[in-house]
Amino acid sequence: MNTVASEEIERAAQLLHAGALVAFPTETVYGLGADARNADAVRRMFAVKGRPAGHPVIVHLADADLLPRWAREVSASAEALAQAFWPGPLTLILPRASTVLDVVTGGQDSVGLRVPAHPIAHALLVRLLDLGSDGIAAPSANRFGRISATNARHVADEFGDAIALILDGGSSRHGIESTIVDLTTDDPVLLRPGAIAVEALRRVLGSAPRVANARSPRASGTLASHYAPRTAARLIAPDELIHAFSTLTQPVADIAVLARSVAKPAGFTGTWIEAPEKSTAYARDLYANLRTLDARGADEIWIETPPEGSDWVAVSDRLRKATHRQ
Ligand code: TXA
Ligand code: MG
Repeated sequence: MNTVASEEIERAAQLLHAGALVAFPTETVYGLGADARNADAVRRMFAVKGRPAGHPVIVHLADADLLPRWAREVSASAEALAQAFWPGPLTLILPRASTVLDVVTGGQDSVGLRVPAHPIAHALLVRLLDLGSDGIAAPSANRFGRISATNARHVADEFGDAIALILDGGSSRHGIESTIVDLTTDDPVLLRPGAIAVEALRRVLGSAPRVANARSPRASGTLASHYAPRTAARLIAPDELIHAFSTLTQPVADIAVLARSVAKPAGFTGTWIEAPEKSTAYARDLYANLRTLDARGADEIWIETPPEGSDWVAVSDRLRKATHRQ
């Protein structure tokens, strides 16, 4: 992992404090940060991202001790999950404190909170706290509906000069967004599968969280189409993928492939990425791989359907949304 000089953290904290936007690395994906106590800065962040108002954004905290400033009620389940997984890739949706800005919560009575583990994110949050602000509102650092950014170059490709500073922390460790659990009722609900597996949540909660249905609170990552390349993308079963290329060295259309178990056929000259076999490594590389395939400007992207099984729930969720046709 890259390290960032303390002067760079200082500059980033000063910029945030002055209302500017700063992109920063987290262990999941890069975030596009604004001071969560500054409504104008948060509005600017929505504008730059192209995100419709009314979509709530996660507030990142330096430490779990800050929770009572943001949540008016911290249930025993929330305490237990925070204790087990923070700092780390888990977002808790809790009843909001009255002081939380409406632009942050999308006007809902709840707020999403996360204590990131990445040392650069942590140092930035600690320094901003010294300056008097106790949270960074940050969605993933990509334009609305597009592929999340897992390195500083991806962020620059998305936003160019529209943001004041990008802190470069190298490639994200998990490569896939945080797991989101809604704890605003007695019955925990999984809003987004992510870097923390459901099985790990079950061990702490005593039972697995219920899976969100369409009526669960608004979350843009729960829209059918999201994390999407510009090129039309589709999932294709391993057998079908083998069959499609068995007779032709090159299919009629220009296809860019994200394979996993299927080997590149001899004579295939298009783009063929062989993704890692294990779900954690697959997730880590996923968005960079999708960006590489998208940049090819092929007619279609074909993605080998990943295996079934609990390890693959978060990856399958992202691939389903990346391949959903509008
Ligand atoms: O790993 C992550 O969570 C990354 C890093 C930067 O922390 N952030 C991220 O943010 O993925 P974003 O905005 O791209 O996705 C967060 C999701 C959105 O779908 C948002 O609607 C949902 O969390 N969310 C935030 N606050 C919420 C709330 N109060 N109720 C329901 N959903 C909420
Ligand atoms: Mg996002």
